[in-house]
Amino acid sequence: MVQFEYNKSIQEYTTFGVPVKAELFCTFSSVTELKEILSDKRVENKPQLILGGGSNMLFTKNFEGVVLKNEILGKTTLKETEKEVFIQVGAGENWHEFVLHCVSKNLGGIENLSLIPGNVGASPMQNIGAYGVEIKDVFSSLQALNLQTLEIEEFENEDCNFGYRESIFKNTHKGKYIITSVTFRLQKEPVFNTSYGAIEAQLNTMGVTEPSVKAISDAVIAIRTSKLPDPKEIGNAGSFFKNPVIDKKSFEVLLDKFPSIAHYPQPDGKEKIAAGWLIDQLGWKGKTIGEYGVHKNQALVLVNYGESEGRDIYNLSSEIIDSVKETYGIELEREVNIY
Ligand code: EPU
Repeated sequence: MVQFEYNKSIQEYTTFGVPVKAELFCTFSSVTELKEILSDKRVENKPQLILGGGSNMLFTKNFEGVVLKNEILGKTTLKETEKEVFIQVGAGENWHEFVLHCVSKNLGGIENLSLIPGNVGASPMQNIGAYGVEIKDVFSSLQALNLQTLEIEEFENEDCNFGYRESIFKNTHKGKYIITSVTFRLQKEPVFNTSYGAIEAQLNTMGVTEPSVKAISDAVIAIRTSKLPDPKEIGNAGSFFKNPVIDKKSFEVLLDKFPSIAHYPQPDGKEKIAAGWLIDQLGWKGKTIGEYGVHKNQALVLVNYGESEGRDIYNLSSEIIDSVKETYGIELEREVNIY
């Protein structure tokens, strides 16, 4: 029997930790339980929100509707070939624990994505990425419940329209499916991706000459720990904004005015601009207002030091967007989902 809770605080279920409540709250640990909840009269016609690790969301008000917390666990090896292992993972599994599981088995592919907060189910939604690797590079397929038909459907890599922090689950399919499991394709003889500057430097510092799955994971953990706040200690949701991608012409105009601008050339000729650099240059880094502000080591990350309201953090993000627009003519987009 599924248990509903009314007027439930969900503060502890999001990494920002802002004080908000859900009208109705319920957890599910299997597809059967999920179907049972969705067929229940009490949730009918109510707005629904799926919570995974709560690491990429900011609530600016109480949620009038039902919050469903995905706790589907399990790791199953579906297929093994000479070079690859296909592992199906329950959407409610913690992402970093799954990375460590693969590292312990010396399976390569997701070591660069160590220590990203959140659950497995959310990883394909926004095609999580770091240090030159994105989930799409190791994604095989996923299973999701169609909220209209209550049937499980399978999505292959090419069905998901992965882009930079994008997939169909954030666009055309938003709110229409609940991801229940994800299958990853891991490598027994991995090709390492250490080209991202900070990794090479960190491996050198650690005295590593032969990279391994474990060494790269350790290097990424060290870099992230030094730069990004631990959500267990300081409320945050990682990068609050996306890095904007602009066309070559606009970029050249910008480069002329700001020669030291941090940027990454894209395969299609466009340029990705480091939003952290733009925000930092405008003096926002480390700025604190009451109990919230901009992180002292990474200007892309907004932080909640205590009991701040989501609305205040949201307003700060609007001020940052306005100031970046005024100086650089670039409109930053929020990466974090706002409710
Ligand atoms: N920079 C500054 N000041 C800052 C922050 C950055 O000048 O306060 C400059 C850095 O010096 C560097 C450049 O901006 O030249 C890029 O910074 P960084 O390497 O920290 O990466 P990022 O582009 O800011 C992205 C992802 C992160 C991911 C890192 C590493 C986005 C929105 N963010 O950040 O992802 O960990 O690359 O690959 O794409 C997340 O999505 O939550 C996240 C943390």
